[in-house]
Amino acid sequence: AGPCDLYSAGGTPCIAAHSTTRALYNAFSGSLYQVKRGSDNTTTNIAPLSAGGVANAAAQDTFCASTTCLITIIYDQSGKGNHLTQAPPGGFRGPESNGYDNLASATGAPVTLNGKKAYGVFVSPGTGYRNNKVSGSAVGDAAEGMYAIFDGTHFNGGCCFDYGNAETNSLDTGNGHMEALYFGTNSAWGSGSGNGPWIMADLENGLFSGQGSKQNPADPTVTHRFLTSVLKGGPNKWAIKGGNAASGSLSTYYSGARPTAAGYNPMSKEGAIILGIGGDNSVSAQGTFYEGVMTSGYPSDDVENSVQANIVAAKYATTSLNSGTALTAGQSISLRVTTSGYDTRYLAHTGATVNTQVVTSSSATSLKQQASWIVRTGLGNSACWSFESKDTAGSYLRHYDFVLQLAANDNSKEFKEDATFCSIAGINGQGSSIRAWGYPTRYFRHYANVVYIGSNGGVHTFDAASGFNADVTWAVGSSFA
Ligand code: AHR
Ligand code: AHR
Repeated sequence: AGPCDLYSAGGTPCIAAHSTTRALYNAFSGSLYQVKRGSDNTTTNIAPLSAGGVANAAAQDTFCASTTCLITIIYDQSGKGNHLTQAPPGGFRGPESNGYDNLASATGAPVTLNGKKAYGVFVSPGTGYRNNKVSGSAVGDAAEGMYAIFDGTHFNGGCCFDYGNAETNSLDTGNGHMEALYFGTNSAWGSGSGNGPWIMADLENGLFSGQGSKQNPADPTVTHRFLTSVLKGGPNKWAIKGGNAASGSLSTYYSGARPTAAGYNPMSKEGAIILGIGGDNSVSAQGTFYEGVMTSGYPSDDVENSVQANIVAAKYATTSLNSGTALTAGQSISLRVTTSGYDTRYLAHTGATVNTQVVTSSSATSLKQQASWIVRTGLGNSACWSFESKDTAGSYLRHYDFVLQLAANDNSKEFKEDATFCSIAGINGQGSSIRAWGYPTRYFRHYANVVYIGSNGGVHTFDAASGFNADVTWAVGSSFA
């Protein structure tokens, strides 16, 4: 049985079931999600390999070969049509045109389930999905349950990496108008023990870790690579739970009465569904989502325990984030432009500015050094890489406002993540494309001989679709100096 078969058997059926990695019903063989490719803006649907099975990642890889792909729709498997699509502007505007949020890269969160490859939904700040016209979700004080599997190592303190029930107009309509899982280190409202990240409940104008609206030490810091997070709420009761999605059982972090702060008892749930954003389309948060469901009714602990067992049996595991020219920590490399007419240029720096310059064996030593990079284990994620300047020890390539720059490591989480890049097979078929770990829609892209992290057809000039594939592909060679 799948998770939603278990909820159904317990009398609390799923009203929404979202996953890009697997079917959540034993009999489900329909579309899990839709991707759109950059080469011609056409779309295709990705289904499980067999009923109840893992997503057909190979079908996506074929469709997206030699171009980029975004996740455009995360289908609802429940049959209620509660699909998630690109979130519209609300109290806050997203970064895309007309204030829409970004869509996630289709390849930002590769994993395996029982050894079979699949892709999760990597949410960078600015990314969000939503459905404001949901059928069958809990409204008012009605009972509901939900779970989601997140990457417990991908989070930040922004508002708000959520999955669950939110406002139908994308605005903050007041306390108690949401009931969504939150994961991250935001402590502006509540918090748990340690430094976070924590699983909390976003009940609108408050992230709750227990009955009180401030710190509740019984809510632990949790960082399992695959994290099961559970939330349920009904008339004057609610609970949050968590556990390792790869082994073991769930623990209850809070189970009890509604918050005493005004507006949360009874609740005024509206029944929209959000992913990756706050109820008012706050878009500052990051995290990764693999699967999640919402139910009608307050699921029993027994059912939730059997769902956790089902999740563990799915055997989520990590897989490589790199597929380009092999890199080794400590090696010194050069990155040569592959765009025709520019291919004598190399990625270099002039002070803090990162550009491309013509470099040859007879160039001055100083220029050779400016175009030489030492590969380091990724500062923000050891599965990827950082690039330290040959001539300025302790300074690394990092992006800032999507412009690549050379800067000294200040040891902040933001610096380390902004200085971490994965090396994937070159999109134009040559060497490597160097993808920003935290923004997997974005790659090192030279544009007018300055280097950015560009997304294919995004809103910036340097995102231009024209020339994209060649501009984001680099020949990796030995360094000049
Ligand atoms: O409750 C926390 C956040 O506050 C909500 O997600 C958002 O709607 C509001 O800004
Ligand atoms: O960076 C050099 C060129 O500038 C790129 O190939 C092109 O996209 C832009 O005009």
